[in-house]
Amino acid sequence: MEPHVNWDELPEAVRTVVEKRVGKVVSARTVEDGITCRTALILSTVTDTLFLKGTPVSDRSSVEAQRMEADINAAVARVSPALRWEAVVDEWHLIAFDYVSGRHADLTPQTRDAAIVADTLRRVRSCRPPGGGLVPLLAERYRDTLGPGDYRALDGSSLLHTDTNPHNILIASQCGYLVDWAMPAVGPAWVDAAQTAVRLMGYGWAPRDARAWLSGFPEWEHAGQATKAAFVRVVCDDATARFGSYAEQENACFRALLS
Ligand SMILES: Nc1ncnc2c1ncn2[C@@H]1O[C@H](COP(=O)(O)OP(=O)(O)OP(=O)(O)O)[C@@H](O)[C@H]1O
Ligand SMILES: [Mg+2]
Repeated sequence: MEPHVNWDELPEAVRTVVEKRVGKVVSARTVEDGITCRTALILSTVTDTLFLKGTPVSDRSSVEAQRMEADINAAVARVSPALRWEAVVDEWHLIAFDYVSGRHADLTPQTRDAAIVADTLRRVRSCRPPGGGLVPLLAERYRDTLGPGDYRALDGSSLLHTDTNPHNILIASQCGYLVDWAMPAVGPAWVDAAQTAVRLMGYGWAPRDARAWLSGFPEWEHAGQATKAAFVRVVCDDATARFGSYAEQENACFRALLS
């Protein structure tokens, strides 16, 4: 991963426009996490702090991802920091958010964050997908892998984040925030919880403990076994098609959801 562009390396026109919007920047800290954006900055003025993400407009897929984050922000206000503004300046696409002074979720075994992460995902359940077909259906993402009858397993009307890696879960004062709504989907209500349980296994949780955590989500408990099995099969087939044998470790965790 290329290092992120620092504040003083951004074009002067960009810095000028940002300062017109936020006031004189007195400190700028580069956040190194984040593969999609080219710059991620914590900018402070005398009275305020905000988080700024940016990507060159030539990087079409990253701009699309940032536009999605901006467009969906009002719909996910219960769980995400608020968008302050979006701008295109001197060939840079910029989105600015309220700054969360927090840390990444700890997903290792025995973490105290497990309940906060669960609560964060439950708050997502109260977010309705925005209208206008902005958010694609989850089934669409897997269209090349769907077998007959699989479509129904991935069908649903819930708004999903679909990338609950710990870098996208910030915790501040015991409250969880889900950032980076770049690849949302509409699908079954239990998908984010199931994918997060797989991540817990990836961080070393015993499958039994991850399943116990997941059992705290009634939507997963009430989903039929055939539906869950179809979901796991589709996700695993898709990962194998894309990553070959590298997918096997995570696929085993997905299959462990069904035991
Ligand atoms: N509002 C915020 N306040 C404070 N820090 C934030 C905020 N939003 C994001 N971050 C931090 O910045 C990092 C990068 O942001 P983000 O995940 O949105 O970038 P990205 O490049 O889209 O990520 P990805 O690697 O998933 O593509 C996050 O992992 C998090 O640590
Ligand atoms: Mg991210």
